Amino acid sequence: MECYFAFFLFAAVLSIQVLNIKASQTNVTIVEGSTTTLQCQLTYSEAINVSIFWLFDGKQIKARPLHKGNDQDIININEIFLSLKLTQATRKQSGIYTCGALSPGLRSAINISVNVTDAEGPELEVKGEAVQNFLKGNTATLRCNAVFPPASFVDTFWTFNGGRIASNERRRKYDKDNPHSSGSTLNLTIYDLRLNDTGIYACNLNTSHGMAQKNFSIFVKPKEDTRSAPVKRDRGTKLLIGLGLFVALLTTVMAIVYLKLRSRRPILRRLPRLCLDNPQTASRASVTFTSVAHE
Ligand SMILES: *[C@@H]1O[C@H](CO)[C@@H](O)[C@H](O)[C@H]1NC(C)=O
Ligand SMILES: *[C@@H]1O[C@H](CO)[C@@H](O)[C@H](O)[C@H]1NC(C)=O
Ligand SMILES: *[C@@H]1O[C@H](CO)[C@@H](O)[C@H](O)[C@H]1NC(C)=O
Ligand SMILES: *[C@@H]1O[C@H](CO)[C@@H](O)[C@H](O)[C@H]1NC(C)=O
Ligand SMILES: *[C@@H]1O[C@H](CO)[C@@H](O)[C@H](O)[C@H]1NC(C)=O
Ligand SMILES: *[C@@H]1O[C@H](CO)[C@@H](O)[C@H](O)[C@H]1NC(C)=O
Ligand SMILES: *[C@@H]1O[C@H](CO)[C@@H](O)[C@H](O)[C@H]1NC(C)=O
Ligand SMILES: *[C@@H]1O[C@H](CO)[C@@H](O)[C@H](O)[C@H]1NC(C)=O
Repeated sequence: MECYFAFFLFAAVLSIQVLNIKASQTNVTIVEGSTTTLQCQLTYSEAINVSIFWLFDGKQIKARPLHKGNDQDIININEIFLSLKLTQATRKQSGIYTCGALSPGLRSAINISVNVTDAEGPELEVKGEAVQNFLKGNTATLRCNAVFPPASFVDTFWTFNGGRIASNERRRKYDKDNPHSSGSTLNLTIYDLRLNDTGIYACNLNTSHGMAQKNFSIFVKPKEDTRSAPVKRDRGTKLLIGLGLFVALLTTVMAIVYLKLRSRRPILRRLPRLCLDNPQTASRASVTFTSVAHE
């Protein structure tokens, strides 16, 4: 420390002008969409005129005069920090940033290497069931959780059967507040559901890191009179079942009678001609014959 001070004193006495740039971090790696501040430290003699600059890949992006020198003040040394803010960095901002200072006849600069890396893609998570049933006239609230790294742009929206829903629709509303906060909830509320609101709804997240989408299947059913409808349906079903049983019974009886008639035909043929010529007599005869055969 003493040595350092002695050097500056020596420099000042000899009118050696000081202009020096340092940086504590010369390699910076950040995730796409995040914000960082590059910093360097400038030491300069109060006696000299000083201007500062920033370069990106050798091209000037910032420059300004910093200090007006005072020939008389040859002892004082000043020290300040220079900074450059990279807001929601994109990968194109990767490169060599040069922090520098100039004074007539003097130049000092340092390179800071910045690597903006690709971030993980955005993710959406359905809150609640992906398939939901509602009655006509009810209100539906759909919810998704969005998780994404800081991004240079964020767009959240809802779609119905693929078409974008306007956030200001009166019946279908969603909030677009603060889409930049990562880990936010996307809500959609549908008031006074109609039958034609049945379909695929999706929450969508479009960020500089990519797209994410999650689907909901929503079914809207008519509001039934819950007391009379099931009773009516029961009665109808009973009637149908009864009718079916009756038809089945009738068919069985007819089939049995037909089969019996068929099996008796050779015997009937042997009956006197007189009986066969009269259908009424014939049937009476056969019935009589049957009962005899069973005994
Ligand atoms: C910065 O990274 C480069 C390679 O990207 C490497 O050559 C250099 O040594 C690093 N410097 C520091 C101070 O870590
Ligand atoms: C800084 O990087 C540039 C290339 O962008 C190179 O020409 C220059 O020599 C470097 N300066 C220092 C001080 O490392
Ligand atoms: C600083 O620059 C001004 C012009 O902008 C000049 O008049 C002045 O003499 C300079 N001072 C020194 C110490 O170089
Ligand atoms: C930037 O960082 C990534 C991940 O650490 C590395 O794979 C890549 O080589 C780096 N790029 C440069 C230009 O240093
Ligand atoms: C979404 O709903 C949740 C839970 O009701 C609430 O905490 C959150 O603030 C809502 N988000 C928006 C953007 O309205
Ligand atoms: C849906 O039904 C309502 C009436 O219930 C009607 O006003 C509206 O136009 C219909 N929408 C579409 C897209 O068919
Ligand atoms: C996502 O955003 C990008 C950049 O603004 C745009 O080109 C693209 O069409 C968007 N995708 C959707 C599905 O909105
Ligand atoms: C959502 O549903 C649509 C239409 O059915 C389909 O094209 C799309 O792939 C689905 N998306 C997801 C993430 O399942």
